[in-house]
Amino acid sequence: MTVVPLEALPLETLRRRSSSKWRTYPDDVLPLFVAETDFPLAEPIRTRLADAVEIGDTGYTPADPGIRDAYVGFAARRFGWTVDPRRIVTTADVMMGVVELLRATTSPGDRVVITPPVYPPFWICIEEAGGVAEEVPLLDDGQTWRLDLSGIEAALADGARAVLLCNPHNPTGSLHDREALAALAEIADRYGAIVISDEIHAPLAAPDAGFTPFLAAGPAAERVGFAVTSASKAFNLAGLKCALMIAASAERAADLTGLPREVAWRTGLFGALAGIAAFSPESDGWLDALLVRLEQNRRLLGELLAEHLPRAVYRAPDVGFLAWVDLSAYGWGTDPAAAILRECRVAFHHGPEFGTAGAGHVRINVGCAPEVLTDAVRRVAAFAAS
Ligand SMILES: Cc1ncc(COP(=O)(O)O)c(C=O)c1O
Repeated sequence: MTVVPLEALPLETLRRRSSSKWRTYPDDVLPLFVAETDFPLAEPIRTRLADAVEIGDTGYTPADPGIRDAYVGFAARRFGWTVDPRRIVTTADVMMGVVELLRATTSPGDRVVITPPVYPPFWICIEEAGGVAEEVPLLDDGQTWRLDLSGIEAALADGARAVLLCNPHNPTGSLHDREALAALAEIADRYGAIVISDEIHAPLAAPDAGFTPFLAAGPAAERVGFAVTSASKAFNLAGLKCALMIAASAERAADLTGLPREVAWRTGLFGALAGIAAFSPESDGWLDALLVRLEQNRRLLGELLAEHLPRAVYRAPDVGFLAWVDLSAYGWGTDPAAAILRECRVAFHHGPEFGTAGAGHVRINVGCAPEVLTDAVRRVAAFAAS
C-alpha cells in the first residue's frame, strides 16, 4: 500500500506556535535549527491531550501511567525488540535521564566517552553529572561514520568509566550496526564500564531501516547498558516532558529502581499521556506517513544542494530529520550558520557546537515542508553567488 507523505502545517500557522523554534528569531528567519518538526500532531495524541484538558487532568503523573506497556508494544512492532516493562522508569526528558544515570553509576571526576561530532548537550550534561567528557571522534571514511572501537577501548583501558552513545547518531543521522554495538558492549564489559545509549531518534527508524537497539546487541549489552528514549522527537512532544530509561538485566534494572524517587516524579503527565498515544498502534499510520515525508525531504535536500550549492558535502542520513552538511568549501569560516543567519535569514544549527569536527558544517532540520527547505537552500545559494 502506498503511504501518502505527511504534510507540514503552513508557515502562517507555525508562526503562531510559541516553542523555541518559532520564538528564537524574528519572522523573516526560516528556522531549520532546533530539533522540532512542523507537522500537525498525530490524531490519537491530539484527542488524548484534548480529553485531558477537557476534564482538567493536569495533576501529578502516576507511577505507571501506561507508557511502559505502550513502549513495550512499540518496540516489539517497530524493532522486533522485547522489553520488560518492569525494567523501565520514566523521567522528564532524555538528558535528565542521562544525567541521573551517570550520577548513579559513576563517581565525580570520572571520564565519560562521547563520539563527536555529537549533540552539544552531551558535554554539558556530563559536566552536570560531575563527570569529564572524553572525546573519541567518530571515524569518517567519506562514506560512513563509524565508532572508533579501538579508540574507545583505549579510553576505557585508561580509566574512563562510561560511554554516552547516540544511536541513531545526531547530527549525522547514521545508524550504528549490530556488530559495532555488540563489540562496544564487549569492550565496556571487559573494563567494567557502562554504556548509556541515547535512542531519542530511534522511533524515527522504520521497521526495515536496520536500527539495532543497543540493549538488543547481545548479553554483554544487557549487562552494561541502559537505553534512554522518548516519543518526543518523532512526534514533536519535547515540551511535554516524558522520557523512558530502560534496562535489560537485573543489575542495571536495580540501578534504575535505586534512582532517587524524585527522578520519576518529574515525568510530565501530558508527556506520558501523549507518549502512550504516540506509541500505540493507532499512531503507526501517522508515523509511517511522517517517515515517507522525511525520506523525501532527505533526498530533496541532496538534489537542492547538488543543483544550487554543488560544493556542499552531504551524505543523506539513514533516518530522521537532521542532516549534517559540510559547507567549508564556501569559505564562510568555522561557523557558516552564523553568516547564513545574518545574510540569508535562515537559521541552521551551528556546526562547531557539535565539536571540532563541526568546523565549516551546519546541521539542517528537514522536518518541514519541501517548499520551506527549497526556499532555505535557494536563499543560501543566492548568498553563495553574491
Ligand atoms: C540525541 C539527542 N538527545 C537528547 C535530546 C534532547 O532530549 P530531551 O529534550 O528529551 O532531553 C535531543 C534533542 O534534540 C537529541 O537530539
